[in-house]
This record gives sequence, C-alpha cells and structure tokens, in this order.
Amino acid sequence: MYRQALANGEKIFAVAPMIDWTDTRCRFLHRQLSKRALLYTEMIVADAIIHGQRDRLLGYHDQEHPVALQLGGSDPVKLSEAVRIAGDYGYDEINLNVGCPSDRVQSGTFGACLMREPEVVAQCVAAMKAVAKVPVTVKCRIGVDDQEPEAVLPDFLARVVAAGADAVWIHARKAWLQGLSPKENREVPPLDYELVYRMKRENPDVFIGINGGIADLDQACDHLQHMDGVMLGRAAYHNTSILADVDHRIYGEEARQPDWMGLRDAMMAYAADYIAAGGRLNHVTRHMVGLFQGMPGARRFRQILSSDATRPGAGTEVIEAAFAAIDFNPTKEMVG
Ligand SMILES: Cc1cc2nc3c(=O)[nH]c(=O)nc-3n(C[C@H](O)[C@H](O)[C@H](O)COP(=O)(O)O)c2cc1C
Repeated sequence: MYRQALANGEKIFAVAPMIDWTDTRCRFLHRQLSKRALLYTEMIVADAIIHGQRDRLLGYHDQEHPVALQLGGSDPVKLSEAVRIAGDYGYDEINLNVGCPSDRVQSGTFGACLMREPEVVAQCVAAMKAVAKVPVTVKCRIGVDDQEPEAVLPDFLARVVAAGADAVWIHARKAWLQGLSPKENREVPPLDYELVYRMKRENPDVFIGINGGIADLDQACDHLQHMDGVMLGRAAYHNTSILADVDHRIYGEEARQPDWMGLRDAMMAYAADYIAAGGRLNHVTRHMVGLFQGMPGARRFRQILSSDATRPGAGTEVIEAAFAAIDFNPTKEMVG
C-alpha cells in the first residue's frame, strides 16, 4: 500500500487511532462514508493481545478494510507475538504507538516516552517486521519534553526506517510528559508543521504522513502539497460528515451526493445485529452524534441519539427517528 502510494504519488487519508473512540462500531460508521480512508483501531497493548480475549480485542467487521491495528508496547518479543496473533485477523497494517502521553501508557513504558529511546523503537519495528505479512508503521511525535525536535526527529526517523518501517505518521507537536493531561498534550505544545514538511523533503523515499490540528479537508489538501498522507483525529470524529468528501477530494473519485438514507439503513441493520448479539444501541449511536454538524435538525438529531438511545431496550427505531429530524434538502434561507 505505502510503497505503491509513494511510487505513484498517491496520497493517503487516515482517521487517527483514538482510544475509546475508534472502536469497531465507529470504524464501521466511518467506512460507510468513505470507502478509501485508512482507518486505525484504538491502541491495543501487546500484553492484552497475548493474555486477553483476542476476539473481543481484535475482531472487526469485514467492511472495515483498509484497517490498521495500532499496538502499544516496548518489548520486541511481546510485540512480535502480538503481531503474530493479530495475523489471523487480517489487518492491513500494524502500527506502533510512539505518541501517546497518557499516564497509563507511560507506566507501561510505551507511547510518547519512547521518543527518548529510538534504538528500542527500532528493535521493536524490526521484530514486528520479522513476523508481519503487512506493512509495519510508526506513529510518533516530533519529540518530548526538553528534546530539540530538529535534532532528535531526523535521527529517530532514520533509525525506524533502517529497521524496516514502511511509513511514519508524525503528530506535529511535542508531548510534555510531566504536568499535562493527555488532552492538554493534544492542544498545548505548539504545532510545527514546517519541521514535518522538512522531514519529508529530506526523506523523499520514505512515506511520511502528518497529523495534528488538521480541521477540515481544505487544510488536509494543503498539507498534501507537502506530505504523502494526512491523518485526522478529532475533526473526523466530531464532524463525521467530512468523511463523505474524502473519496472525491483526496482520492479523485467522482463527486457524489452522500446517500444519507443508505447510511441510515446500514447503521440500523448494523445496530440490529449488534443488539441481537447482546450489545447496546448506545455503543453504536454514540459515534454518530457528530454526523450532521451544522445541518438543520442536527441539534434534535443529537438529542434523540443521546437521550433515547440510552434507554433500556432502545432499538433501531431511535436511529430512524434521529435521521427523520434532519432536513436533508434545506432551502438556502434555512441553511443561513
Ligand atoms: C480520545 C482520543 C484518544 C486517542 N487515542 C490515541 C491512541 O490510542 N493512539 C494514538 O497514537 N493516538 C491517540 N490519540 C491521538 C490522536 O491519534 C491524534 O494524534 C491527535 O488527536 C492529534 O490529531 P487531531 O488534532 O487530528 O485530533 C487520541 C486522541 C484522542 C482525542
């Protein structure tokens, strides 16, 4: 995938890995809007895969492809074991998390603190590559704490690429490991897009994607003037309908009107299966709340999903009612 993209100058649009957000139900929704976007799982810790309930952690819907599994860990042996186990599930890519600053992650010595240990990351990548049948990639920051990104990032990149990484996604800000919450670490350290562009210029043969603070597809297209890929996290999650333009604007496919009724029906069928298997409607609909931001009826849509979907015994009629609240053909005055 990455080699072909680089060779042909094709760009990749990805929805970022986000713990508690990009679960299989969220990815199914996103996939209804874009057939091409690369979707990432939440980070799953290698130990959990080795010792935990594999089907629950790794199972997903066959419509989700292309889908990348993100792993957390810093032990090459455990990571390679996790990659081997995940091999049975048919993910299209395995990604190593070197960007997450949360306490939970730091205590396990993985995530962003590994920016300080590029040789460990390189060993992990090499071990993962040795067993993976799909591309192995890294998602990192530009540095942590008092590191000088201009000094450490080129060295970090060189090492992970030499170890076999097929692509590197860079969140264009530092993580400050002490004193900031994970949320603050996505907002407070300043973005340095120029440095990430420079990394791409200096590594023309390496697929490098950019992440961090990209608000919409206009901005995504601007970044793609400099980069091989763009990764959107919060904007894609909170303003989900932007994904409906990705296949056209990023992948050059014919422009099409979104099929909102088709989406409704797909989500109702998916939710019905999920409930029949013992799940709760709310686990599906909570990812849909940001679907129609800015459209007439969006507030009512959100209200219905947030209140009615959590009631005991709630079924797919809630999705139907929520969609009925949206005016899909507003007159110009109503939009204003
Ligand atoms: C709720 C949430 C959970 C996240 N979980 C992960 C994760 O599991 N792995 C990871 O590499 N980054 C994680 N991130 C960081 C995002 O992948 C992304 O790097 C960050 O949000 C910046 O991109 P954005 O500005 O487009 O949101 C998370 C972000 C959010 C908002």
